[in-house]
Amino acid sequence: MIKIICVCGARPNFMKIAPLMKAFNQSGKFQTLLVHTGQHYDQKMSTLFFDELNIPKPDINLEVGSGSHAVQTAEVMKRFEPVVLDFKPDYVLVVGDVNSTIACGMVAVKIGVKLIHVEAGLRSFDRSMPEEINRVLTDSISDILFVTEQSGIDNLKNEGVNSDKVYLVGNVMIDTLLANKDKAEKSDILEKLYLEKKKYAVITLHRPSNVDDMNNLEKIISAFEVIQKDLKLVFPIHPRTKKNIEGSSLQARVTAMTNLILLEPVGYLDFLKLTANAAIVITDSGGIQEETTILGVPCMTLRENTERPVTVAEGTNRLIHIDTQDIIKHYNQIKSANFEAKGRIPKFWDGKAAERIAQILLTSYR
Ligand code: UD1
Ligand code: UDP
Repeated sequence: MIKIICVCGARPNFMKIAPLMKAFNQSGKFQTLLVHTGQHYDQKMSTLFFDELNIPKPDINLEVGSGSHAVQTAEVMKRFEPVVLDFKPDYVLVVGDVNSTIACGMVAVKIGVKLIHVEAGLRSFDRSMPEEINRVLTDSISDILFVTEQSGIDNLKNEGVNSDKVYLVGNVMIDTLLANKDKAEKSDILEKLYLEKKKYAVITLHRPSNVDDMNNLEKIISAFEVIQKDLKLVFPIHPRTKKNIEGSSLQARVTAMTNLILLEPVGYLDFLKLTANAAIVITDSGGIQEETTILGVPCMTLRENTERPVTVAEGTNRLIHIDTQDIIKHYNQIKSANFEAKGRIPKFWDGKAAERIAQILLTSYR
């Protein structure tokens, strides 16, 4: 038996933890404790995904909620430490790059518990991004590092990480996409929103550099004002973004866009149905760059860099400067190619990453 605490906290963690919990539980050789830090807590940012993705109910919810980086990270650490001391696991497993990832990682290694990082090695090389700090720090203290794409292997090598503990296993987020694609096709979200396949764009935005910086947010909204005259925009809005728009001078401009459908965050299956059938996706999300690559849908990532370069080199993604005219120019280019994007599937993005991880742990770390 491997005794392992699996940690999740924010929306993208849930898609990543789902196939891991399944692989661990199906093997019968892991004793798991699922800890939710409570970093995300709205029904539409958290509970919904547990129901839809059949993730076991967390054994413990630390209920940390929102706060500044220091407050949130410290609060997770304070509340996670007694859990680790009590459960006495062989390993703590963390996924992704959110504050909960580094907070729980630090607690584990300081108590002397080995740390596993799933989605290790990704680098945007942009230290102004909170996630980049979380990625670099988590990798530097991890004992076993599971990587989604070759760039991650190269980055860890360049940072001097011993290759004996690094494994290219593929992408657990794509495990979840492939496991749910058929189910998602049955969603009635298109009918509910009166959308026709390939006749709309999906938008998501939540990076602080785009939505806390009102100057950048204004540039992006200005581009949407132009694009929505041509194509319907569907925008499930992240709570951070909603708060920033509400009460600002942009509020009236967003409301005035007659071809923009503003929604609360939607569930995974509805979102997958929306993206799979979209003409184009415009986003600053990490995970959505990967999902559009698998779905073969053109993706405009409104960022200066990406920690997921394979989505540009092999997938359907392109990076766009935060500049109104640039966003419109790229939109028009993609439109003139009939919203078609050619790409290939990155190595091991085949739905079996979590099984590989379970197998490696059982073979080499039991
Ligand atoms: C976090 C992650 C980011 C990830 C994103 C996914 C960090 C540093 N950031 O960003 O890497 O891409 O999640 O969505 O860990 N809020 C609610 N309800 C919720 C959760 C948040 O209203 O359920 C609001 C609060 O006002 C909160 C704000 O959103 O202050 C930001 O939440 P937080 O978790 O700090 O960061 P995200 O922007 O969600
Ligand atoms: N997602 C969702 N509903 C939404 C927006 C996104 O289910 O309204 C899913 C999306 O399919 C992907 C994950 O949330 O699986 C990405 O999370 P997010 O963009 O919040 O975080 P990031 O990947 O940028 O860290």
